[in-house]
Amino acid sequence: YTITVDPRRAGPEISDTMYGVFLEDINFAADGGLYAELVRNRSFEFGPRDHASYTPLTAWSEVARGDATGSATVVDDAARLNETNRQYLRLDLAGGTEPGAGYGVRNAGFFTGMEITEGDSYDFSVWARTDQPQGTELTVTLDTAAGTPLAAELTRAVRGDTWTKYTGTLTATASAPDGGLTVTAAGGGTVRLDMVSLFPQDTFRGRENGLRRDLAERIAALEPGFLRFPGGCLVNTGSHEAYQAPNWPRERSYQWKETVGPVEERAVNHNFWGYNQSYGLGYFEYFQFAEDVGAMPLPVVPALVTGCGENRATDDPELLARHIQDTLDLVEFANGPADSPWGSVRAEMGHPEPFGLTHLAVGNEENLPEEYFENFLAFRAAIEAEYPEITVIGNSGPSAGGTTFDRLWDLNREADVAMVDEHYYMAPNWFLSNNERYDSYDRAGPDVFLGEYASRDNRFANALAEAAYMTGLERNADVVRLASYAPLLAHTQGTQWRPDLIWFDNDASWGSASYEVQRLFATNTGDRVVPSRATTTPGLGGDVDGAVGLATWATSAAYDDVTVTSADGETLLTDDFSGGLDQWSPSTGAGTWSLADGALVQADTTSTDNMLVAGDRDWVNYDLEVTATKRSG
Ligand code: AHR
Repeated sequence: YTITVDPRRAGPEISDTMYGVFLEDINFAADGGLYAELVRNRSFEFGPRDHASYTPLTAWSEVARGDATGSATVVDDAARLNETNRQYLRLDLAGGTEPGAGYGVRNAGFFTGMEITEGDSYDFSVWARTDQPQGTELTVTLDTAAGTPLAAELTRAVRGDTWTKYTGTLTATASAPDGGLTVTAAGGGTVRLDMVSLFPQDTFRGRENGLRRDLAERIAALEPGFLRFPGGCLVNTGSHEAYQAPNWPRERSYQWKETVGPVEERAVNHNFWGYNQSYGLGYFEYFQFAEDVGAMPLPVVPALVTGCGENRATDDPELLARHIQDTLDLVEFANGPADSPWGSVRAEMGHPEPFGLTHLAVGNEENLPEEYFENFLAFRAAIEAEYPEITVIGNSGPSAGGTTFDRLWDLNREADVAMVDEHYYMAPNWFLSNNERYDSYDRAGPDVFLGEYASRDNRFANALAEAAYMTGLERNADVVRLASYAPLLAHTQGTQWRPDLIWFDNDASWGSASYEVQRLFATNTGDRVVPSRATTTPGLGGDVDGAVGLATWATSAAYDDVTVTSADGETLLTDDFSGGLDQWSPSTGAGTWSLADGALVQADTTSTDNMLVAGDRDWVNYDLEVTATKRSG
């Protein structure tokens, strides 16, 4: 191949914000993940209205020390902590005479338990009240599932029958992967508890209500140009209807106002991805994280037209008007003076300076183009009238092409929308075959925000295909202004979607091969494209027959001791492939491939939509020689 580079010609500028991240609470990315809170269901708000398997005591179990007894009930009555945090734990205590007797509850954290590290300190807090005039003593311990203590116990005397916050620090004297937090109460009477919380002190930047440090640092290491949040499907779904359960008059959709202010006043809500979100990581924390990692904040607000499998649009003009007003208030929350109504909420949370919001997206992956666009225009008109400096981003639905996509693009173009969000998850060879996708995009039309993309797996081959594709994004940096891989985070025990950029469990985290590609591009972003030409594109226009044939027969697991050699004699693979090979996109045509033992194998010889992936090894798809031994029997 010959690559000709012409440094005298000036290509498009590449903006510093070109490569960013998209942070959605999917795969337990926030609660149980980036949000460092160790207590699950800390405010006892879970229930079957959110998920069939939930009860108000999800993640909690009763504990009796010594001869103490009692009952633990979650109630929603006039004694509640506040109107959004309605349910609380009521402990009716029957006392006990033995030393150390107490009755209460233990929280087992997320998945396998709280990961506790010897020497680390943990901040405990609880809101409590007691009907006992002399007060009630609480004992707080960290222990394993088998009851082995992990820290010296802490005691706090609850006084008075009004809600008061009690705090303390537990320092771990041993490490364990299955830690839990136990709170017991001594004596008789009734003690009420809510917002039982435990945070490691070692959070990202040491912030209170902070983020898990290893995960936040992994994201920071990407030096993201922007942070898109909070979704995704998380944003739109349910926004057409009010929540129906009694006493729960809020909507099911993500409402940014429910996610700011004191954490004990934030709602708990169901999450599109099948679990509950505490909103502890809310809009303030998203903005602050964006600022901490030097990223432009890019919130997405619901357009009141759902996508993600729920194709409905609101027919309620009042609801639409309120969401539009909420969005105007959001801009004020981010950018308004510290004495403005919403700017003051930001200031009270510790950030009097504005967050510098410049871009905002309306909606995510709507399947109803006309309904979505009508709402989009109403949002845009209101935002531009009050905040003309804000770029309002439209979108193009859930795929890289098709009728909805085309119609949405037409509508965006006709309305002279500044920037359009595109999303696609495709096979690796799609990315290789579509490197030129943006070469022909109209430079006079909207810019592109590639808000979500990934090739469908987490292997090296996928990362390589993405890297190749990103050269095409960068070459078109005058029209593709922003791009983010998705999803960003996945807990190995709570995965709803794969592939993902960063994987983690309660203890550790690691980047996928795609993560390394994102990091490579994002931390080496050039100022300007240098125009170049290649005589051919490796692996595309060339000879792909070998790989196609190999993928087809090897997955049948009929052969072992396979050796794959390139045309110039280099050995690319040897393996017994006892588990067979993986491939993307089954062959669509038929051809004949000769093996060394004389067997003939049917194989695709016409399509480039195939890829050979040998375990976690190399991607090979051109100019191959293959020898193999037929399995006996
Ligand atoms: O990134 C995962 C999901 O993919 C997003 O929530 C949604 O926008 C898309 O369908």
